[in-house]
Amino acid sequence: MAERPDYRFLVAPGGSLRGRLRVPGDKSISHRAIMLASIAEGQTQISGFLEGADSLATLAAFRAMGVSITDPENGEVWVEGVGRDGLRAPLGPLDMGNSGTAMRLLAGLLAGQRFPVTLIGDGSLSRRPMRRIVDPLTRMGARIQASPAGTAPLLIEPTDALRGIEYRLPMASAQVKSCLMLAGLYAQGETCIHEPEPTRDHTERMLTAFGYAVRRQGLKVCVSGGGRLRSCRLQIPADISSAAFFLVGASIAPGSDLVLEEVGINPTRVGVINILRAMGADIELLDRRTAGGEPVADIRVKAAPLRGIKIPAQQVPLAIDEFPALFIAAACAQGETVLRGAAELRVKESDRIQAMADGLSRLGIQAEPLADGIRIQGGPLGSATGELAIDAQGDHRIAMAFAIAGLRAQGPIEIRDCANVETSFPNFVHLAAQAGLAISDQRL
Ligand code: S3P
Repeated sequence: MAERPDYRFLVAPGGSLRGRLRVPGDKSISHRAIMLASIAEGQTQISGFLEGADSLATLAAFRAMGVSITDPENGEVWVEGVGRDGLRAPLGPLDMGNSGTAMRLLAGLLAGQRFPVTLIGDGSLSRRPMRRIVDPLTRMGARIQASPAGTAPLLIEPTDALRGIEYRLPMASAQVKSCLMLAGLYAQGETCIHEPEPTRDHTERMLTAFGYAVRRQGLKVCVSGGGRLRSCRLQIPADISSAAFFLVGASIAPGSDLVLEEVGINPTRVGVINILRAMGADIELLDRRTAGGEPVADIRVKAAPLRGIKIPAQQVPLAIDEFPALFIAAACAQGETVLRGAAELRVKESDRIQAMADGLSRLGIQAEPLADGIRIQGGPLGSATGELAIDAQGDHRIAMAFAIAGLRAQGPIEIRDCANVETSFPNFVHLAAQAGLAISDQRL
């Protein structure tokens, strides 16, 4: 088999971030928008859709199940909903690429269909744990099978006998919660999920926007099966997880003053802002408003001296995707930063604790990986090129985190295996250049 060419970043050291940017649409919300619009009745207009490989995989999957969806143009997409029971059997397996969200949420939605379907993914996705959804879906009566290792491919056989269950999530996971809620739409009776801590609630908000009743009681959320979704207009905010690289970049690069426009500031996603502020960051939320059922704001961030902190446990699920960027902030802070209670980071697109610890060590930073977190001692960031280049391990967020580290590095930083940046932030290099961070990208 021909080897895939390596896609590398070479980041010039120094600089500052200035001006105004709009980062692409929220990835979590983009997936859900395609899924719910497809099973709604009527035509849904989506704006601000993320045209990244992950959400495009979801879009392609629904087209393969007979849903008519326009090609996204400047983030605008029209979906011709087929109704709750209107999906058709795809001709082959559905390839969810690198996306855990696409695979886990779709598995729930497809568990109650009247046709068989197989979900596959790339090398990284095929290593990620799927028992967390297979077990509760099986309790609901789904006929779903993972590999003996509990991973993809997922084979789903048809059933019309799903039943609602009461389920206590063993980990704080919005993907598992959403998977079960989507299965719950097709189940007899009520499906109730108890979360150990609050996680992102985009599924709950969007179901409500489609006119579907969701009952929320503290940390418990319930849906009843058999209802209908009615089409609507959806405006997707800019992704706070993509904005995070610039929030950290502008905080650590002297002379920075940057505004990030129309960023989603859902309270279940703002851990990165809370943690950076606790470290001393200068972040202001301007013009707070609501768009498409989600709170948004323009975020102004200026350079500020950061100090190391013990990251509060309750912030972990609210910042779960932002830790690679936050570890760069920790490396640039005065003193020690300690994260615990974040074992989930080891089963993301890569083992993010190990990948970040390895890269930080290459830059001369003391970073001690722990089973469920990391301990980072702030200090000067060196350089890493050639044989010593940093390995992003095909993980988009590791690649972008080390790219912004360049703003405070003493020499150039080379990062390999960056192609998956296109899963969540296809124009990252371009926007970074516009703000003042020079990254030359190379295909080798
Ligand atoms: C997501 C939930 C999170 C997050 C992922 C997107 C979602 O995963 O890491 O990038 O859209 O529901 P978990 O819920 O498994 O922690």
